[in-house]
Amino acid sequence: MHGEEVLLEVSHASKIFPVKKQQLRAVSDVSFTLEKGELLGIVGESGCGKSTLAKMLVGSLPVTSGTMKLSGEEYTKLKGKEKQAFRRKIQMVFQDPLSSFSPRMKIGTYLAEPRRNFDHVPKQQALAEAEKLLEKVGLPRDFAVRYPHELSGGQLQRVAIARAIAISPELLICDEATGALDVSVQNQIAQLLVDLIEEQNMGCIFIGHDLAFVRSVTQRIAVMYLGCIVELIDSEYLEQECRHPYTKALLNSIFDVYCDQKEEIQLLKGEPPSPLQLQSGCPFAKRCKSCMEQCKESLPQLKEVSAGHFVACFLTGQTSHREEQ
Ligand SMILES: Nc1ncnc2c1ncn2[C@@H]1O[C@H](COP(=O)(O)OP(=O)(O)OP(=O)(O)O)[C@@H](O)[C@H]1O
Ligand SMILES: [Mg+2]
Repeated sequence: MHGEEVLLEVSHASKIFPVKKQQLRAVSDVSFTLEKGELLGIVGESGCGKSTLAKMLVGSLPVTSGTMKLSGEEYTKLKGKEKQAFRRKIQMVFQDPLSSFSPRMKIGTYLAEPRRNFDHVPKQQALAEAEKLLEKVGLPRDFAVRYPHELSGGQLQRVAIARAIAISPELLICDEATGALDVSVQNQIAQLLVDLIEEQNMGCIFIGHDLAFVRSVTQRIAVMYLGCIVELIDSEYLEQECRHPYTKALLNSIFDVYCDQKEEIQLLKGEPPSPLQLQSGCPFAKRCKSCMEQCKESLPQLKEVSAGHFVACFLTGQTSHREEQ
């Protein structure tokens, strides 16, 4: 995977919300890259900044600081027509598909909209394309004449994905896109996404809170804690090689098999601190059983510990299992 063409480059992206004369740091100095055709997962507890990051990536929320480049083009400060033209390149799929549908609009019309708006394609052509899109996402063509309330949650999510890919975006962002579906439908939608991403050579960011599921769908995983990426790792090696105590604690809550059988099992206790009262030092320090003095004083930077594996923790520094082989 590594060494392919870089699609997305995020550098030191931060988002601070002013809340009652205080500053809420929702996303803090986040940097990562995504390659063409890659599926990157973002996981972390509720409130850790996943959706805020997604909104910044798609351009619906301005960044407080930092830059974002798509295929080498810096797009964080685009305005007017340039911004409008850029919007098609990054599309988003949300958790609750019904809320993004207009109840009185037929599915076909809804699917035809992006091509009509962005490319000024004639109505009949756009409607014909809409039927092909339905087929592409595994739905019958005659769903085009149905209304949203006549579809199941899984079917609606397929329609939402069809609309997102109608204008051939370069990057697709799925924010908890399968979170509201039952497990079998969740797997079907994930497989559809995997197939589409491969076929269209898009990049995809797949946000979820279920680490086991996100790991099964993606090639790499970024683990977020309190606005920061604390670990970035190949999904395949997650269990054997994860290094950050927070990633280990997340794994412990879902897997019976622990990353390293010799280490004491750490389970996550308590709530993350408020992003309004951030202390200096590591954001995970207060919940970390391995916390050292250094962790309370300075912020560990995300460092590459082996090829493509990044960890922000003062405990790391030894050679990894994969390097030793
Ligand atoms: N518009 C806003 N104004 C003020 N604070 C905000 C705003 N949007 C988000 N936040 C805060 O930013 C932090 C991150 O929120 P965000 O929605 O990005 O989390 P999340 O990881 O997506 O959570 P979840 O898993 O529950 O969807 C939270 O503390 C939230 O309250
Ligand atoms: Mg969210």
